[in-house]
Formats: sequence, structure tokens, C-alpha cells
Amino acid sequence: MGIVATVRAYRRPGRHRLDLAPGARIPASPSPAPLSLTPRSRQDDLYEVYASNPEYWRFSGDLDPDDITRPLVSGMLDDLGPDEEALVARAEDGRIVGYAEILHHHPVDGHPWIGLLLIDGRHHRKGYGRMIATQLENRFRMAGRSTLYLGVLTNNLKAQQFWTALGYRRVDLRPDRAKARPTLVLAKQLLPPG
Ligand SMILES: CC(C)(COP(=O)(O)OP(=O)(O)OC[C@H]1O[C@@H](n2cnc3c(N)ncnc32)[C@H](O)[C@@H]1OP(=O)(O)O)[C@@H](O)C(=O)NCCC(=O)NCCS
Repeated sequence: MGIVATVRAYRRPGRHRLDLAPGARIPASPSPAPLSLTPRSRQDDLYEVYASNPEYWRFSGDLDPDDITRPLVSGMLDDLGPDEEALVARAEDGRIVGYAEILHHHPVDGHPWIGLLLIDGRHHRKGYGRMIATQLENRFRMAGRSTLYLGVLTNNLKAQQFWTALGYRRVDLRPDRAKARPTLVLAKQLLPPG
């Protein structure tokens, strides 16, 4: 379907080259967390997470916020490249509160990227976004990855404030590869240089 969620600035048209050994995955964090982050299964219903973020879809243009349907959401979820991983975040009571996509190796720079982070709109500002991002950072850090990247549209000011609060810094401004939308590339150092 050619969708590209806002932060998929790394996306090239077409499929990604697979440059990760088959089956290789970053290890899970050993520390217990109040929020679980597990691989998405086809049974996971992410409709509410998508439908509760109309502002985000307006900014990105990836979906018409007034016409979000389960089949549409399923189609977007199934549109992952081979080196991407989809993760579902659940609160302690089992409710799905968020969704994240990661790219293990960017086809050009080789670094890991967060491709999408979406928190259920009814639960913004409760710390879930920070918890998910921190878990992702810990996983990549444990895997020896030095820097984590993401793209955020220039018109998504709240997301920029969020990532800045988490220590991400601007490293570039460029059109995203899918739709040429002006996109800030942000990065966070996970390991000391050298
Ligand atoms: C951006 C998003 C992921 C943030 O997740 P969240 O769970 O609401 O954020 P958190 O509660 O973890 O916020 C952590 C910190 O980020 C900053 N922050 C988060 N949202 C903010 C906002 N709307 N305005 C200003 N600062 C914000 C604050 O410093 C916050 O700490 P505080 O609440 O103690 O002040 C979430 O709002 C979302 O899903 N938005 C729609 C999709 C989107 O834009 N995704 C990112 C694409 S790049």
C-alpha cells in the first residue's frame, strides 16, 4: 500500500535489502519493566492505537483520520520490510497502549532506526512513550549498537519535544525517502564514542 508512517525517513521506495542474518534479533532487556514490549502477532488489534491519533495522521498524510478502518490498519501493519520489526507495548493489565517499528540496519548508514512510535491517544503523557523508547535503546545498547536514529516530520512539534526530552539531537534535515516530506533526522548516542 505504499504507506510510510511519519518517521520512516529511512525508507527507500521498494523493499529493503536484508543485511541481518536470518533469525538474528537483538536480545531482550534483562530487567523487568512495568510495560512489556513484544513482537506483534497478527491477533494484536491495533485499531484503537491508530484511530486515537487523528492529529498524527493529519500531519503525516498517511491516513485520513476520518476514515480509519481495521482492514486499513492491518494493511499498514503488514507493510513491513524484511529488516524491520514490529513491537506491541502492553501495560501491566494487558491493554495495548502503544506500537513501535524498528529497522535493524539502515540500508545506507547501517545504524538502527526507530521507524514508528505510536502511543494510544487516550494515554499520551503517561510515560509510555518514554518507557518504550528506553527499552528500545537498552536493547540496541546491549547489542553493541552505538547510535539510534529516527526521523520526525518538521510539522510534528509535539513529537520533536518528546524526542528532545529523551536526549535525541538533530543531525540532519532532509526530505523523507517515501514522500519527500520535510523531516528532521534525530539521533542519540547509546555507547561512548570509540
Ligand atoms: C510523541 C509520543 C510518542 C509521546 O509519547 P507519550 O507517551 O505521550 O510521552 P511521555 O509521556 O513518555 O513523555 C515523555 C516526555 O516527553 C515530553 N513530551 C511528551 N509529549 C509532549 C508534548 N505533547 N508536548 C511537550 N512535551 C512532550 C515531556 O518532556 C514528557 O515528560 P513529562 O510528561 O514528564 O513532562 C505520543 O504523543 C504519540 O504517540 N504521538 C503521536 C504519534 C507521533 O507523533 N509519534 C512520533 C513520531 S516521530
